[in-house]
Amino acid sequence: MKSFFVTTPIYYVNGEPHLGTIYTTIAADIIARYKRFNNKKVFFLTGTDEHGEKVEQSAQKKGVSVKKYVDEMSSAFKEAFKKMNISYDRFIRTTDEDHIKTATAFYKQVFKKGDIYKGEYEGWYCVSCETFWTEKELLNNTCPDCGKKVKILKEETLFFKQSKYQKKLIEYINKHPDFIQPKIRRNEIISFLKKPLKDLSISRTSFTWGIPVPGEKKHVIYVWFDALINYLTASGYPKKGYTNIWPPDIQFMGKEITRFHCITWPIMLMSAGLELPRKVFGHGWWTLNAKKMSKSIGNVICPDKLCDKYNVPVDCVRYVLFKQMPFGSDGDFNESIFVEKVNNELGSELGNLVSRSLALFQRYNNSVVPKGEVDKKLQESYKKVLESYHKFMEDLDYYNALNSAFDFVRAANKYIADEEPWKLTRKEDNDKLMSVLFNLAQSLNIISALIYPFMPETSGKIDEQLSVKKDYNKGFKNVKPGAKTVKRDILFPKIEKIVEEKPAQELEHASFEDFKKLDIRTGTIIEVSELTDKLYRIKVKADKERTVVSGIRKYYSKKELLNKKVVILINLEPKKIMGVLSEGMILAAEKNNRVVLLSPDKDIYDDARVL
Ligand code: MSP
Repeated sequence: MKSFFVTTPIYYVNGEPHLGTIYTTIAADIIARYKRFNNKKVFFLTGTDEHGEKVEQSAQKKGVSVKKYVDEMSSAFKEAFKKMNISYDRFIRTTDEDHIKTATAFYKQVFKKGDIYKGEYEGWYCVSCETFWTEKELLNNTCPDCGKKVKILKEETLFFKQSKYQKKLIEYINKHPDFIQPKIRRNEIISFLKKPLKDLSISRTSFTWGIPVPGEKKHVIYVWFDALINYLTASGYPKKGYTNIWPPDIQFMGKEITRFHCITWPIMLMSAGLELPRKVFGHGWWTLNAKKMSKSIGNVICPDKLCDKYNVPVDCVRYVLFKQMPFGSDGDFNESIFVEKVNNELGSELGNLVSRSLALFQRYNNSVVPKGEVDKKLQESYKKVLESYHKFMEDLDYYNALNSAFDFVRAANKYIADEEPWKLTRKEDNDKLMSVLFNLAQSLNIISALIYPFMPETSGKIDEQLSVKKDYNKGFKNVKPGAKTVKRDILFPKIEKIVEEKPAQELEHASFEDFKKLDIRTGTIIEVSELTDKLYRIKVKADKERTVVSGIRKYYSKKELLNKKVVILINLEPKKIMGVLSEGMILAAEKNNRVVLLSPDKDIYDDARVL
């Protein structure tokens, strides 16, 4: 049976992952989890785009070999995806052996078809976007996509006959109204195709970091031609059996790269005689103060840091990204909206429902789910919600799918408010009270299944508390009376207030006098205990015994920390964090989501001053 094949773009490795890049990946993860949950075989592909001039330049700037650079940066993406619970089946890298083979074979096939010819490219090029532009397309002489400077390229190249397939592509788009989504992207592409298509330069000769063109010594394959083929590589093409995966059922991407995916890519496939993707979805951008969030502009938010800052689970980011605006449109990221949604929707509606219900089981029936009568009104609401939820999920309307799920959360909260179980304490009300508990257990189980694609970790926590595997198809029958429930910590602790970070000081201008203001000492860790998921309470022996709250829990075990020599800033203003007064800061170094503690490299007394 063919798998449901979903893809994300492969990400350039010249910067760390951020909210914008993680957005597409979560979008794909949501549908992958939804399909798997509904018993579909799924193949979910993501990865990194590692060739090209920009990556070569970035490595050179860092003074490291390109291979070392791409290895390191690609790992940072893998790490970030792991933290966000991305359930990919393959993480492809364009430097992978099988991809190089497939790209080479694909090139040969298109060449054999007579669709490649030699010539010279002369025109504008944006290295940052790795895109060729015509003079007319430029905006004030800069790249119309990223606003950066473009340069003139004049080099020998191989051209791909895109123009030959223009008519065929238009016919295909007209015949398949669902191929390009949402509608706005479809219209943009149709309108672009009204002008004659230019043939595409698909090789470069002025640098070497790429896949060699077969039979053309000086040429490497143009990074976009190379990158698009990754989708085919992952299917196993040209090996037999690749149609168990091919073609993609949904290809997600940001709107800036729909032209590559809706014009060049299908034409490449037509030339090679392969089936086209069934759906291409170009979503909008996350902006920050109306500017596209991008690593080259430098205005990025890292999802991981956002969760650390507010001490909330990653599911909060997964939720808010799809609940602030409809999937497809642009949206400006705003931390106060984030906080408000976490507090009001996740905390007050969902988190509260779960903790109230678990408290009721505990209080009135020894934490056990009792037998009871199904509440008809609640059941009606469930049926309606499930129907609309599936429809929205199939349409990739995540925003409304979440709204539907939360309609049921609200119905369950209303049910508690209407039934007032705390008043059902007379003996003759006992059956009624048990029915309320029964209906709540069934509702939580259904909610766990509904939110699962968006918030897998939270869904798992609900299942654990109910001791049952989620399922929305069994209606009000899935939680068996007699199931023992376990009340755990609240799901979404309230975020008290926004802690604004002061911009970092310009270090270049710090004088020695400034430096002398910092009192940094050596010390030894003598006690460690867990404070939250992310924080440790650590006691350090330095000038005295100091308690410090430190966010290094995910990087160090308690055992690794105990008796470790560290470096600590002691004259930092004491601050209460999660109820503990923190009196200093243990110094650490961070890069690409790696954190290591600084430590004296030879034995030294505690309380030695750092000079
Ligand atoms: N390497 C190419 C894609 C090749 S696919 C064969 C590329 N990489 S990228 O790293 O620059 O961006 C990849 C994707 O990241 C975009 O298509 C988009 O999905 C996502 N986003 C990057 N910044 C974004 C925002 N600020 N907002 C939303 N999505 C953004 O292009």
